[in-house]
Amino acid sequence: MSDADRLPAIEVLADHGALADACADLIAKALEQAITDRGRAAFAATGGSTPAATYRRLGEARLDWSKVDITLTDERWVRPSSMDSNERMVRDSLLHGPPRAAGFVPLWSDVATPEEAARAVEPRLKAFLPFDLVLLGMGEDGHIASLFPGNPALAEGLDAKTERLCLAVPAGDPAPAQPRISLSLRALLDARAVFLLVTGEAKRQTLERAAGGADLPVRRLIAQQSAPVRVLWSR
Ligand code: 6PG
Repeated sequence: MSDADRLPAIEVLADHGALADACADLIAKALEQAITDRGRAAFAATGGSTPAATYRRLGEARLDWSKVDITLTDERWVRPSSMDSNERMVRDSLLHGPPRAAGFVPLWSDVATPEEAARAVEPRLKAFLPFDLVLLGMGEDGHIASLFPGNPALAEGLDAKTERLCLAVPAGDPAPAQPRISLSLRALLDARAVFLLVTGEAKRQTLERAAGGADLPVRRLIAQQSAPVRVLWSR
């Protein structure tokens, strides 16, 4: 079977609004099914700017939010009050109204270093696994979560045999601008479903490069067979 046969198709939506609606609907359905099947739903939510519209729509879903547990796929090493904080973005776009009843486990904590924070949150992340749903974004460089090409933490972050569920990521050149905390690929793939949410031509070309064999972090996601992946894209 060729790669093309195994790789997830890119599901094309008409525009950003349609993408947010479709993604929010798919997330809500996955969480609802998890609650029906197992009594609770475990969701790892990406950071960045793309998902905010999806989270706003997701917050309107009629779910028993008290049975949903949410964490982040990664975080910038900034306080939750920072405009760069993924925790802040998720709290502002999703965790108000009924979704406030959801459990939320942030990755940042008020400790000295990202490594201390990563180790501190590991036991709480372990309780999520397997995730019912992981929502990821992607950078034009092919990074997912905070697993960046060329970063010193990348090898461990992509290592299928690592014990780590969460790790510190140093700032790098050209990215990331600030130190990060990221779930490892091993944690991200310990999931019943993974959605990759991307927009724009540049990221589409990055996806095509990865599908063609370019050894980018995103290829480790789309070329694996252990967790089902859906790729949702609009211009
Ligand atoms: C982050 C993310 C990161 C993000 C991509 C895409 O902290 O930034 O989790 O992996 O998904 O960088 O970001 P945009 O949605 O802002 O393009």
